[in-house]
Amino acid sequence: MPLTQLVADHIQPLHAYDPPPRRPGIWLDANESPWPLPEQARQRITSVLAETAFQRYPDPGAAQLRETLATTQGGHSREYVLGSGSDELIALMLHVLSKPREGAASASVAFPWPTFVMYELGAQAHRLTPLRVPLDKQWQLDPSAWAQVLTQKQPNLVFLATPNNPTGNRFDLQVMRSFIEAHPHILFVLDQAYGPYDDQAPQVAALFERFENVALLGTLSKIGLAAIRLGWCRIRPALAAELHKVRQPYNVNALTQATARLALTELKPTLDQHVQAVVTERTRLTEALSNIPGLTVHPSHANFLVVQSPKAKELHATLQSKGIYTKHLASMDPRLTNALRITVGTLDENNALLETLSSVFQ
Ligand SMILES: Cc1ncc(COP(=O)(O)O)c(C=O)c1O
Repeated sequence: MPLTQLVADHIQPLHAYDPPPRRPGIWLDANESPWPLPEQARQRITSVLAETAFQRYPDPGAAQLRETLATTQGGHSREYVLGSGSDELIALMLHVLSKPREGAASASVAFPWPTFVMYELGAQAHRLTPLRVPLDKQWQLDPSAWAQVLTQKQPNLVFLATPNNPTGNRFDLQVMRSFIEAHPHILFVLDQAYGPYDDQAPQVAALFERFENVALLGTLSKIGLAAIRLGWCRIRPALAAELHKVRQPYNVNALTQATARLALTELKPTLDQHVQAVVTERTRLTEALSNIPGLTVHPSHANFLVVQSPKAKELHATLQSKGIYTKHLASMDPRLTNALRITVGTLDENNALLETLSSVFQ
């Protein structure tokens, strides 16, 4: 009997999250920051990392980094659980909050659709029933569709990425608040991966202070440190304690812990400048793309834009042939058949993009 037959039934039909391998070129496909760290920052990191006790395990509880997060992001260090990217925290929450409610055959988890694919993939991997709730025409949460799902299906968790990936818009604060207030027995996970690019992010984070049934997700991946894989979850200590039970003991390595502490303190002004540069370029790029006849650009509060065109497939291929990589969203949702997701790059990268796109429509 092949050993693959021993793979659990719910795992066999899944597909691995498998981003394409990277070739040299302009990478506008993964919502990273386009800015490398400046030389001085690299040197500072290098000298701190050189002090690492490489022969020892890292601090299993990442106490110092959790303190730094409490100081810089608010709250108490007990409220922070860390992971190898926020991906790991999503998986941990689904693992832990997986008990079916009374009378239900399985636990469920709801999220808008389209959204970040790991909520659904994680749900399937942990045997929760995923519930897609379609976004409305403006890509906002549809209150009546949500009222029905929340009341009738009683999901254990709801994931709301605001700003949302891949649509780039942020969700209406009052609508989110009304869901949270009306359903105190559902955990609302507000994923702030793109929060640094959204001036409404502090009000979203404030929902944590007001409501017990809110958790926040954050990451360094979108603001210049995707390589180190550091994400965090801010959640009530009683639930944090449950997440710690299933977290791998040394899941955040010592090099990441040390680099993340620098990123959140000494290097923060540099990272903030880079975020600001992206926000400035987002405005310029939105305008410039809107001026290309044949393209529809959607307003974004994230570090990427969604562009629609009947020629999306051709545009994607032409850009790729020039070494400019974007994400064609066709497979996600019928409403995105003609959509490309384009990460905001540096000024030069964005100019290269604009030049190629303009040439297609000439
Ligand atoms: C909304 C959202 N949340 C979380 C993540 C995962 O980020 P990471 O695991 O790199 O922290 C992503 C990555 O694209 C995302 O788009």
